[in-house]
Amino acid sequence: MPMTQPMLGLVDILPDRERLTDGAWLLRQFAFTNVASLLAEITCIAAQAPFRHLETPGGFRMSVAMTNCGALGWVSDRRGYRYTTHDPLSGRQWPSMPAVFSAIADSAARAAGFERFKPDACLVNRYIPGARLTLHQDKDEADLGAPIVSVSLGLPAVFLFGGNARQEKQRRILLQHGDVVVWGGPARLYHHGVLPLKDGDHPEVGTQRLNLTFRRTH
Ligand code: SIN
Ligand code: FE2
Repeated sequence: MPMTQPMLGLVDILPDRERLTDGAWLLRQFAFTNVASLLAEITCIAAQAPFRHLETPGGFRMSVAMTNCGALGWVSDRRGYRYTTHDPLSGRQWPSMPAVFSAIADSAARAAGFERFKPDACLVNRYIPGARLTLHQDKDEADLGAPIVSVSLGLPAVFLFGGNARQEKQRRILLQHGDVVVWGGPARLYHHGVLPLKDGDHPEVGTQRLNLTFRRTH
């Protein structure tokens, strides 16, 4: 059977799992025990492929700073949005995906009912206070059968989670250090975004929020 519908049953009764809608789950604190290694790997990735503010096709500078790891990385410029095998800043391949990243992405996907998630791209977002991500769909991936797995670290942020239509009312979900959101199946193309980050100082991460989104691009 094609994986259009996540398996329900076991995941319904696990603690700290909140079903947002068909195909979308909030796994509170799912990454908590791995945060130290995730943060160390992000530092390592950023040393090879620094965070940068991409330009939108319309010519705006994004307030979120981004980098990538994995076989493919998401980029935006005047020519549009796309995945590339090489970092346009250095001409080198994106840093490879650390084992702890693939492991957490796969186990979170499983907890949400999606078996064998093998991401080939991980977008790393860095928000400083005031930075935001406007409502959008993740639709640059050729494989829409795989879910998106999003891991939040550092300062809390309000995540907007809407529906297939842009105008649909959005839920507001507070995402905290270690929280994971998974959306796929019927929710794969749901609109989402992040409200401007509030000021704050996180004991381990400082004045920022870091977010990893794992994708299967093809
Ligand atoms: C994204 O939509 O790519 C990131 C979402 C987030 O930062 O929580
Ligand atoms: Fe997104």
